[in-house]
Amino acid sequence: GMVRKPANFISSISDDRGEELKYGSLTISEVFEQDLGIGGVLSLLWFRRQLPRECTKFIEMILQVTADHGPAVSGAHNTIVTARAGKDLVSALCSGLLTIGPRFGGALDDAALMFTAAKDSGADPTAWIEKMKKSNQLIMGIGHRIKSLANPDQRVEIIKNYAKKHFKETPILDYALAVEQITTRKRANLILNVDGCIAVSFVDMIRSCGAFTREECDDLMSFGCLNGLFVLGRSMGFIGHYLDQLRLKQPLYRHPWDDITYIQEPGSGETKEP
Ligand code: ACO
Ligand code: LMR
Repeated sequence: GMVRKPANFISSISDDRGEELKYGSLTISEVFEQDLGIGGVLSLLWFRRQLPRECTKFIEMILQVTADHGPAVSGAHNTIVTARAGKDLVSALCSGLLTIGPRFGGALDDAALMFTAAKDSGADPTAWIEKMKKSNQLIMGIGHRIKSLANPDQRVEIIKNYAKKHFKETPILDYALAVEQITTRKRANLILNVDGCIAVSFVDMIRSCGAFTREECDDLMSFGCLNGLFVLGRSMGFIGHYLDQLRLKQPLYRHPWDDITYIQEPGSGETKEP
């Protein structure tokens, strides 16, 4: 019989071979007939299934609240410096995206994993915080440079309120809020931050919506899908900052000397650390 060459690639999210492009099992016409929106398209391409409207709406809310946080944050700063160095849109965007990680915008998956494991283990929040401290681990999703109890983050309020109102249950969010109660007693800025709040609410959503098995939920956290939501959302802001710098005709950026403390190697000169 015929010997088929084994395929080099396998793929399961989209197909452009037929008359019409398909996202999952839906043709692009059906995507528009059913008015699936960005949340619906993301669900088909990332999760290979259609999710209920309260979930796709939540995904869209995540993209909106993470879209930008001003020019001062690490990623926007990098994008702006790169734009001002005359680089193209993709380079400036990538330069911003490359800052997304454990301290800035990329704490979602680890926050989801940590809070979920803590809650599932039945650990009391106080004991868990103590255990994390003893093992020298920062709690992902806790802490913010400028937001605090006195200066609350409205993005967190929006996400939290939606999750409380629309998801069947929110045990992981509730656990994270109990942790926040304790960490903010130590320092007012050790709040549940926007990464953490999105992460724990997302776990509550996928665990309670009935569309995923428990194993699929665990996979989503370990695959980095939650950080992907921040990356996708913030790309809107970074592209905005790139266009803004061009519109404003900003020249090459050079950091002012007086904003840098120059420290000599010990013993190599007179300059002393201030
Ligand atoms: N868990 C436990 N303790 C913490 C945490 C945390 N997540 N964050 C800070 N602390 C403690 C530190 O151990 C330190 O304690 P000490 O004074 O006893 O040594 C104190 O708080 C100050 O720590 P800094 O690192 O100076 O705090 P800073 O305000 O600079 O850090 C940051 C802010 C980077 C967000 C930090 O809280 C952190 O790493 N959080 C975890 C990662 C995270 O969630 N990042 C996403 C932020 S939101 C966003 O980017 C969109
Ligand atoms: C953000 O969304 O970029 C921030 O919460 C980080 C920051 O430092 O403001």
